[in-house]
Amino acid sequence: MTTRLRSRHLLGIAGMEPDEIQLVLDTAETMLEVSGREIKKVPALRGKTVVNFFVEPSTRTRTSFEVAEKRLSADTLNITASASSLVKGETLIDTALNIEAMNPDFIVMRHSEPGAHALLARICRSSIVNAGDGAHEHPTQALLDAMTMRQKFGRLSGLKVTILGDIRHSRVARSNIHLLTRMGSEVTLCAPPTLIPLGIEQLGAKVLYDTDKACAGADVVMVLRMQLERMKTGYVPTLREYAKLYALTPERLGLMHPEGIVMHPGPMNRGVEIDSAVADGPRSVILDQVSNGVAVRMAVLYLLAGGEREDAAATAGAGR
Ligand code: CP
Repeated sequence: MTTRLRSRHLLGIAGMEPDEIQLVLDTAETMLEVSGREIKKVPALRGKTVVNFFVEPSTRTRTSFEVAEKRLSADTLNITASASSLVKGETLIDTALNIEAMNPDFIVMRHSEPGAHALLARICRSSIVNAGDGAHEHPTQALLDAMTMRQKFGRLSGLKVTILGDIRHSRVARSNIHLLTRMGSEVTLCAPPTLIPLGIEQLGAKVLYDTDKACAGADVVMVLRMQLERMKTGYVPTLREYAKLYALTPERLGLMHPEGIVMHPGPMNRGVEIDSAVADGPRSVILDQVSNGVAVRMAVLYLLAGGEREDAAATAGAGR
């Protein structure tokens, strides 16, 4: 079992070994304890500077990274595309090099271009953390999803996980497929054929087009948003028809394993990919996912910074 991440960047789950995933999840459990204290602050990243650079919109990821950084005592600052010189035509590379000139320790970035983070990792001294790159990867989302499943079932191995919805445009789907197949879960993808990327089975997931069959016996159904802003052509005849064939409804919830849980990374299109009765029901862990997002992002930053010789709990204790 490793005690360190092998890279100083987090670009995607595809580059992580199972023991590194396990390390992040175990460290995140310790960080969850910090978030439950009255004084939710530890000195692990004191003196470190984190730039949150979001070129695409975000509520959960940006906020939870900032909360995580503050709980670790880092100095944080936020740059959004609309308030940056990107709108004046400055390139991503020039923008990154100018941020680097201020000597931050981390750049947490969301960008619409797959591979934008890999490019920055080649030219930057700071640790680059992928907070979502186009339809490519969203590694911290997959890690917080895995943490949520592990909390509910005590394991990832052997879990039957169905990912239902717009797989084509989803970085969440890709990162989850990488993570869950590495950790021994059985992954089924379900969507209309137009929203399943060609060859995705090669990543180790099964594809079904019948939602009832895909939900039958599932331990987890992870519903994905219809990413209407990324759809330039009509992938489905109408949203009403999509909802009829592919939404997670109370009837389809009834087909799952009796202890099965419902997940959604957000933001939700209620009444399109998921019924409100399901999203707000007792088997939904959607808000647990958000809480776990803070713990996972604390763990990632802490480990990328090098961790500690002693374990994370001991470091956390120093802040009491
Ligand atoms: N899950 C997720 O990435 O949500 P945001 O787009 O709000 O960050």
